[in-house]
Amino acid sequence: MRLAILASGSGSNAEAIMEAAALGDLSGDVAVCITNRSTAGVLERAERYGIPTSILSDPEDAAEVSSLLAEYGVDAIALAGYLRRIPSEIVRSFRHRILNIHPALLPSFGGKGMYGMHVHRAVIESGVRWSGATVHIVDEEYDTGPIVLQSPVPVLQDDTPETLSSRVLEVEHHLYPVALRLLGQGRLHVEGRRVVIAEEQAAL
Ligand code: GRF
Repeated sequence: MRLAILASGSGSNAEAIMEAAALGDLSGDVAVCITNRSTAGVLERAERYGIPTSILSDPEDAAEVSSLLAEYGVDAIALAGYLRRIPSEIVRSFRHRILNIHPALLPSFGGKGMYGMHVHRAVIESGVRWSGATVHIVDEEYDTGPIVLQSPVPVLQDDTPETLSSRVLEVEHHLYPVALRLLGQGRLHVEGRRVVIAEEQAAL
């Protein structure tokens, strides 16, 4: 697997993925790290791992994105805090080969506008006792694609969006590399809304 990471922010998930790849735990390599923001923290993290970086001039431009992916021989994509929509041409040509991580238990607390602290604030205000992290396959909408893996995190009485976010992030950093390894090993099979993991017991 030759993976492109797309990230808009700090890039702590991107770093967890690059670390897993460096340790040989990903069943693939990170070919390039792409961002839409020239000030994104992820750029410095990628440079530390010796991963090539690229800044998109127009994230909506399918031709620009696809020629960049072709240049690096990319065959799978990990969205890691990427705040722009992926052009639908790219979703089509990488069908079931684009994963995203979301900081809540989908299908709750997802969709347009549900990112970053907005998610954690909504979780706390709703009164649910559990949140968590979800890795899912990307389709043409926000946060609606088939779910690959989830991991729960308790919501504590005195949580703020920030404390909940850091507890969820810790779980994300373990969950995302596992899901990507399954993708790299060709173990993810989509059947309708469900993702079937080949030899799941051995894989997880
Ligand atoms: C994570 O919480 C992820 O679930 C969401 O955006 C955040 C990115 O954080 N999609 P980081 O940039 O990986 O630190």
